[in-house]
Amino acid sequence: MVKQVVICSQLVSNMSRLSWFVLFVTFLTKLWTTAQAVYVDDGNPFEEGDLDVLTLSISQNDAPMLTKVYYPTRIDTYAVLFFTGGYQGDIPSELYSDVLVRIARHGYVVIGVDYMPMETVQANVRDRTPRLVGDHTQKYMEELQWVTKHLEGRIAKQLNRTGLVPDFSHLGIGCHSAGCDPLVKMTLQHHTFSKAALLLEPFSFNYATPVTFKMPALILGTELSTQPHVCVRPGQGYNHFYDMWKCPRMLMEVKGHGHCDMYNETWYKACQLTHFCKTNPDVDINKYHGFVQGISAAFLTTTLQGRDKLQYITNTTALPVELMEFKIDMNC
Ligand SMILES: *[C@@H]1O[C@H](CO)[C@@H](O)[C@H](O)[C@H]1NC(C)=O
Ligand SMILES: *[C@@H]1O[C@H](CO)[C@@H](O)[C@H](O)[C@H]1NC(C)=O
Ligand SMILES: *[C@@H]1O[C@H](CO)[C@@H](O)[C@H](O)[C@H]1NC(C)=O
Repeated sequence: MVKQVVICSQLVSNMSRLSWFVLFVTFLTKLWTTAQAVYVDDGNPFEEGDLDVLTLSISQNDAPMLTKVYYPTRIDTYAVLFFTGGYQGDIPSELYSDVLVRIARHGYVVIGVDYMPMETVQANVRDRTPRLVGDHTQKYMEELQWVTKHLEGRIAKQLNRTGLVPDFSHLGIGCHSAGCDPLVKMTLQHHTFSKAALLLEPFSFNYATPVTFKMPALILGTELSTQPHVCVRPGQGYNHFYDMWKCPRMLMEVKGHGHCDMYNETWYKACQLTHFCKTNPDVDINKYHGFVQGISAAFLTTTLQGRDKLQYITNTTALPVELMEFKIDMNC
């Protein structure tokens, strides 16, 4: 594994500026949407974004799924991140609110969706629709159609003014763990609704269809997630997603971090106490979320807002975490 990192970083550093440039321009013109109308984030993705963010909750009686939207309050047109949490969306997206709000502050309408009401958690505010068994993919598609049609109006209602536009033609999918299962299946069925895939520690029990079309993916893995108590089985996790994906694709495996580190601090601590997944007692959650925000904003600004910030990902020595592995394949 370490050997692979060395080879890869040598490869990257040996590439001349010119070939990088040619590669990148080709990449840009072929893949990135030309984002003229949407807000573009000029800042450093690892710093906190400039925008203030509001939360909008939409109940499952209203939309097909329980929906939490994190959006900048400044009137503008924004790219969209359609996100679902772990366990095929059964983990409520508000458990990830710290990371999602940080991303939204860089100029995104982040739509967190989930399906199962966690009755033991915040039972008073969550709906009690029974858990759907089997494939949720269709439900996610219905949800996406619903927000495409209604979200702008719902935001206007909350802000008491119109003009804030979630631009669904600049949409990326984002997910954690087995939440990636339904979103990737949805993407395999409909190749064009999403322009980028942010796969945070993806996991699937049965993902077996290679991606045959070009959609940029940033895939994150953690060292501890594959160690007991195992939360990502190695052959079904981030390396598997990387192998199944077509380029452009990037994979980062972070040293000394685990599967629960993506959650808000309280939930991370609950995970640590219950040993649900392996955790490292020395982890600084705030710092880690800053890292996730940085790579996510850099990737999405490049793919959805049309401003090249890939160097914040590819210059791995500047990252606030240490990597076990970094793989990149842009040569499509
Ligand atoms: C984390 O999520 C909970 C909801 O489960 C929320 O009350 C809390 O404010 C969030 N924390 C942060 C830092 O966003
Ligand atoms: C919109 O108007 C309602 C009712 O007047 C008010 O409660 C709410 O705070 C307003 N929202 C904003 C964002 O100003
Ligand atoms: C990568 O990051 C290091 C450390 O921050 C910095 O010294 C170097 O100039 C960066 N390299 C590039 C190509 O940006």
